[in-house]
Amino acid sequence: MMKETIIRLNKVSKKYHDKVVLSNVDLALKHGELILIKGDSGEGKSTLLNILALLEPIDSGDIYWQEKNISQLDIKGKKRLRKVNMSFIFQDYNLFEDLTLEENLKVFLRLSTNKKEDEIEADIHTYLKKFKMEDRKSIFIKLLSGGERQRIAIMRAFLANKSIIFADEPTANIDEENKKMIVNYFKEWKREGKVILLVSHDDFYDDIADDIYRLHKGNLSKVNRGGVK
Ligand SMILES: Nc1ncnc2c1ncn2[C@@H]1O[C@H](COP(=O)(O)OP(=O)(O)OP(=O)(O)O)[C@@H](O)[C@H]1O
Ligand SMILES: [Mg+2]
Repeated sequence: MMKETIIRLNKVSKKYHDKVVLSNVDLALKHGELILIKGDSGEGKSTLLNILALLEPIDSGDIYWQEKNISQLDIKGKKRLRKVNMSFIFQDYNLFEDLTLEENLKVFLRLSTNKKEDEIEADIHTYLKKFKMEDRKSIFIKLLSGGERQRIAIMRAFLANKSIIFADEPTANIDEENKKMIVNYFKEWKREGKVILLVSHDDFYDDIADDIYRLHKGNLSKVNRGGVK
Protein backbone atom coordinates (compact mmCIF):
# COMPACT_ATOMS: atom_id res chain seq x y z
CA MET A 1 0.00 0.00 0.00
CA MET A 2 1.30 3.45 -0.88
CA LYS A 3 1.74 5.61 2.15
CA GLU A 4 -0.15 8.84 1.91
CA THR A 5 1.72 12.15 2.19
CA ILE A 6 0.27 14.41 4.86
CA ILE A 7 2.52 17.44 4.58
CA ARG A 8 5.18 18.33 2.04
CA LEU A 9 7.73 21.05 1.49
CA ASN A 10 8.58 21.96 -2.08
CA LYS A 11 11.77 23.97 -2.69
CA VAL A 12 11.45 25.83 0.58
CA SER A 13 14.06 28.47 1.36
CA LYS A 14 14.54 30.47 4.50
CA LYS A 15 17.13 32.91 5.71
CA TYR A 16 17.55 35.07 8.75
CA HIS A 17 19.18 38.33 7.73
CA ASP A 18 22.10 37.13 5.59
CA LYS A 19 22.26 33.64 6.97
CA VAL A 20 20.78 30.98 4.68
CA VAL A 21 19.15 28.36 6.90
CA LEU A 22 17.22 26.35 4.29
CA SER A 23 17.93 26.34 0.59
CA ASN A 24 15.42 24.69 -1.78
CA VAL A 25 14.45 22.04 0.74
CA ASP A 26 12.08 19.23 -0.31
CA LEU A 27 10.60 16.96 2.34
CA ALA A 28 7.47 14.84 2.50
CA LEU A 29 6.02 13.39 5.69
CA LYS A 30 3.91 10.29 5.20
CA HIS A 31 1.49 8.45 7.47
CA GLY A 32 3.14 5.76 9.55
CA GLU A 33 6.67 7.10 9.17
CA LEU A 34 9.29 8.30 11.59
CA ILE A 35 11.66 10.78 9.97
CA LEU A 36 14.86 11.67 11.76
CA ILE A 37 16.61 14.98 11.14
CA LYS A 38 20.23 15.36 12.19
CA GLY A 39 22.67 18.21 11.89
CA ASP A 40 25.03 20.33 13.92
CA SER A 41 23.87 23.04 16.23
CA GLY A 42 22.67 26.10 14.36
CA GLU A 43 22.15 24.31 11.03
CA GLY A 44 18.41 24.96 11.13
CA LYS A 45 16.76 21.81 12.49
CA SER A 46 14.38 23.67 14.78
CA THR A 47 13.64 26.16 12.01
CA LEU A 48 12.70 23.30 9.69
CA LEU A 49 10.45 21.84 12.36
CA ASN A 50 8.81 25.20 12.98
CA ILE A 51 8.16 25.66 9.26
CA LEU A 52 6.48 22.25 8.99
CA ALA A 53 4.45 23.13 12.06
CA LEU A 54 3.34 26.32 10.27
CA LEU A 55 4.82 28.42 13.05
CA GLU A 56 7.48 30.13 10.97
CA PRO A 57 6.99 31.91 7.61
CA ILE A 58 9.08 30.89 4.59
CA ASP A 59 10.84 33.14 2.06
CA SER A 60 10.07 31.03 -1.01
CA GLY A 61 8.78 27.63 -2.04
CA ASP A 62 5.51 25.93 -1.23
CA ILE A 63 3.91 23.90 1.54
CA TYR A 64 1.33 21.27 0.68
CA TRP A 65 -1.17 19.78 3.10
CA GLN A 66 -2.56 16.54 1.70
CA GLU A 67 -1.45 17.79 -1.72
CA LYS A 68 -3.28 21.10 -1.38
CA ASN A 69 -1.04 24.15 -1.51
CA ILE A 70 -1.39 25.94 1.80
CA SER A 71 1.47 28.43 1.39
CA GLN A 72 -0.99 31.31 1.33
CA LEU A 73 -3.18 30.12 4.18
CA ASP A 74 -3.87 32.84 6.77
CA ILE A 75 -2.87 32.65 10.44
CA LYS A 76 -6.28 31.44 11.51
CA GLY A 77 -6.26 28.62 8.97
CA LYS A 78 -2.77 27.58 10.01
CA LYS A 79 -3.78 27.64 13.64
CA ARG A 80 -6.74 25.41 12.93
CA LEU A 81 -4.64 22.85 11.03
CA ARG A 82 -2.16 22.86 13.89
CA LYS A 83 -4.76 22.41 16.59
CA VAL A 84 -6.48 19.52 14.88
CA ASN A 85 -3.42 17.69 13.60
CA MET A 86 -0.18 18.54 15.36
CA SER A 87 1.49 17.79 18.68
CA PHE A 88 4.81 19.09 19.91
CA ILE A 89 7.47 17.89 22.23
CA PHE A 90 9.67 20.89 22.93
CA GLN A 91 13.23 20.66 24.15
CA ASP A 92 12.45 23.05 26.97
CA TYR A 93 9.20 21.18 27.80
CA ASN A 94 6.81 24.19 27.88
CA LEU A 95 5.03 22.92 30.99
CA PHE A 96 3.14 25.06 33.52
CA GLU A 97 5.67 25.21 36.35
CA ASP A 98 3.21 26.27 39.07
CA LEU A 99 0.68 23.55 38.44
CA THR A 100 0.85 19.92 39.49
CA LEU A 101 1.45 17.19 36.95
CA GLU A 102 -2.23 16.26 36.84
CA GLU A 103 -3.36 19.89 36.55
CA ASN A 104 -0.85 20.42 33.74
CA LEU A 105 -2.29 17.61 31.70
CA LYS A 106 -5.86 18.76 32.35
CA VAL A 107 -5.22 22.36 31.35
CA PHE A 108 -3.28 21.26 28.31
CA LEU A 109 -6.02 18.93 27.08
CA ARG A 110 -8.71 21.54 27.64
CA LEU A 111 -6.73 24.02 25.55
CA SER A 112 -5.55 21.76 22.77
CA THR A 113 -8.38 19.28 22.21
CA ASN A 114 -12.16 19.22 22.19
CA LYS A 115 -12.30 16.30 24.59
CA LYS A 116 -14.99 16.26 27.26
CA GLU A 117 -14.05 16.48 30.91
CA ASP A 118 -14.73 12.81 31.76
CA GLU A 119 -12.76 11.72 28.71
CA ILE A 120 -9.88 13.96 29.82
CA GLU A 121 -9.88 12.41 33.30
CA ALA A 122 -9.94 8.88 31.91
CA ASP A 123 -7.14 9.53 29.41
CA ILE A 124 -4.94 11.16 32.02
CA HIS A 125 -5.43 8.20 34.32
CA THR A 126 -4.48 5.78 31.54
CA TYR A 127 -1.35 7.65 30.54
CA LEU A 128 -0.10 8.34 34.06
CA LYS A 129 -0.22 4.59 34.53
CA LYS A 130 1.38 3.86 31.16
CA PHE A 131 4.25 6.25 31.85
CA LYS A 132 4.58 5.00 35.44
CA MET A 133 4.02 8.47 36.89
CA GLU A 134 0.86 8.00 38.95
CA ASP A 135 2.73 8.67 42.18
CA ARG A 136 3.93 12.04 40.82
CA LYS A 137 0.54 13.40 39.78
CA SER A 138 0.01 15.78 42.73
CA ILE A 139 3.51 17.24 42.64
CA PHE A 140 4.23 20.69 41.21
CA ILE A 141 6.13 20.60 37.94
CA LYS A 142 8.82 22.91 39.30
CA LEU A 143 9.68 20.28 41.91
CA LEU A 144 10.12 17.46 39.42
CA SER A 145 13.45 16.40 37.92
CA GLY A 146 14.53 17.31 34.38
CA GLY A 147 14.04 13.76 33.17
CA GLU A 148 10.58 13.57 34.71
CA ARG A 149 9.58 16.82 33.02
CA GLN A 150 10.79 15.55 29.70
CA ARG A 151 8.75 12.37 30.10
CA ILE A 152 5.72 14.50 30.91
CA ALA A 153 6.28 16.59 27.78
CA ILE A 154 6.29 13.35 25.80
CA MET A 155 3.27 11.95 27.61
CA ARG A 156 1.39 15.14 26.84
CA ALA A 157 1.99 14.74 23.12
CA PHE A 158 0.68 11.18 23.32
CA LEU A 159 -2.38 12.34 25.21
CA ALA A 160 -3.19 14.98 22.62
CA ASN A 161 -3.42 12.16 20.07
CA LYS A 162 -2.84 14.17 16.87
CA SER A 163 -1.70 12.76 13.53
CA ILE A 164 1.70 14.52 13.40
CA ILE A 165 4.17 14.66 16.25
CA PHE A 166 7.05 17.10 16.11
CA ALA A 167 9.77 16.26 18.57
CA ASP A 168 12.80 18.51 19.00
CA GLU A 169 15.51 16.59 20.90
CA PRO A 170 12.85 14.89 23.02
CA THR A 171 15.03 12.59 25.07
CA ALA A 172 18.17 14.59 25.78
CA ASN A 173 17.69 14.27 29.54
CA ILE A 174 16.26 10.80 29.79
CA ASP A 175 18.02 7.65 30.99
CA GLU A 176 18.38 4.57 28.78
CA GLU A 177 15.58 2.66 30.48
CA ASN A 178 12.99 5.38 29.91
CA LYS A 179 14.30 6.05 26.42
CA LYS A 180 13.59 2.46 25.49
CA MET A 181 10.07 2.88 26.81
CA ILE A 182 9.63 6.01 24.71
CA VAL A 183 10.97 4.33 21.58
CA ASN A 184 8.31 1.68 22.06
CA TYR A 185 5.65 4.36 22.19
CA PHE A 186 7.02 5.92 18.99
CA LYS A 187 6.73 2.50 17.36
CA GLU A 188 3.16 2.17 18.60
CA TRP A 189 2.44 5.60 17.11
CA LYS A 190 3.85 4.55 13.76
CA ARG A 191 1.63 1.48 13.74
CA GLU A 192 -1.36 3.73 14.29
CA GLY A 193 -0.38 5.61 11.12
CA LYS A 194 0.83 8.78 12.80
CA VAL A 195 3.82 10.75 11.51
CA ILE A 196 6.76 11.54 13.73
CA LEU A 197 9.36 14.13 12.85
CA LEU A 198 12.21 13.76 15.25
CA VAL A 199 15.18 16.07 15.59
CA SER A 200 18.04 14.40 17.41
CA HIS A 201 21.81 14.29 17.61
CA ASP A 202 21.42 10.84 19.04
CA ASP A 203 22.03 7.63 17.06
CA PHE A 204 19.55 6.00 19.40
CA TYR A 205 16.66 6.47 16.97
CA ASP A 206 18.43 5.34 13.80
CA ASP A 207 16.93 1.88 13.98
CA ILE A 208 13.31 2.98 14.12
CA ALA A 209 13.66 5.82 11.61
CA ASP A 210 12.21 5.18 8.15
CA ASP A 211 14.52 7.84 6.73
CA ILE A 212 17.35 9.89 8.17
CA TYR A 213 18.22 13.31 6.77
CA ARG A 214 21.15 15.55 7.49
CA LEU A 215 20.83 19.31 7.39
CA HIS A 216 24.02 21.10 6.46
CA LYS A 217 24.56 24.56 4.99
CA GLY A 218 20.91 24.87 4.04
CA ASN A 219 20.79 21.53 2.24
CA LEU A 220 18.73 18.62 3.43
CA SER A 221 20.10 15.32 2.18
CA LYS A 222 19.05 11.76 2.82
CA VAL A 223 21.57 9.72 4.75
CA ASN A 224 22.63 6.51 3.07
CA ARG A 225 21.68 3.83 5.59
CA GLY A 226 23.95 1.19 4.12
CA GLY A 227 27.08 3.27 4.48
CA VAL A 228 28.50 5.86 6.80
CA LYS A 229 26.15 7.76 9.06
N1 LIG B 1 14.28 34.47 14.77
C1 LIG B 1 15.56 34.39 14.39
N2 LIG B 1 16.25 35.51 14.03
C2 LIG B 1 17.53 35.44 13.60
N3 LIG B 1 18.22 34.29 13.50
C3 LIG B 1 17.59 33.15 13.85
C4 LIG B 1 16.23 33.14 14.32
N4 LIG B 1 15.88 31.85 14.57
C5 LIG B 1 16.96 31.11 14.30
N5 LIG B 1 17.99 31.88 13.86
C6 LIG B 1 19.32 31.41 13.42
O1 LIG B 1 19.13 30.40 12.43
C7 LIG B 1 20.07 29.35 12.59
C8 LIG B 1 19.34 28.01 12.75
O2 LIG B 1 18.72 27.98 14.03
P1 LIG B 1 17.99 26.68 14.57
O3 LIG B 1 17.48 26.98 15.92
O4 LIG B 1 17.00 26.24 13.56
O5 LIG B 1 19.21 25.63 14.63
P2 LIG B 1 19.23 24.13 15.20
O6 LIG B 1 19.79 23.27 14.13
O7 LIG B 1 17.91 23.78 15.74
O8 LIG B 1 20.31 24.24 16.37
P3 LIG B 1 20.37 23.44 17.81
O9 LIG B 1 20.87 22.06 17.48
O10 LIG B 1 21.39 24.22 18.55
O11 LIG B 1 19.02 23.46 18.43
C9 LIG B 1 20.93 29.74 13.78
O12 LIG B 1 22.10 30.33 13.28
C10 LIG B 1 20.08 30.74 14.53
O13 LIG B 1 20.89 31.67 15.19
MG1 LIG C 1 17.22 23.37 17.68
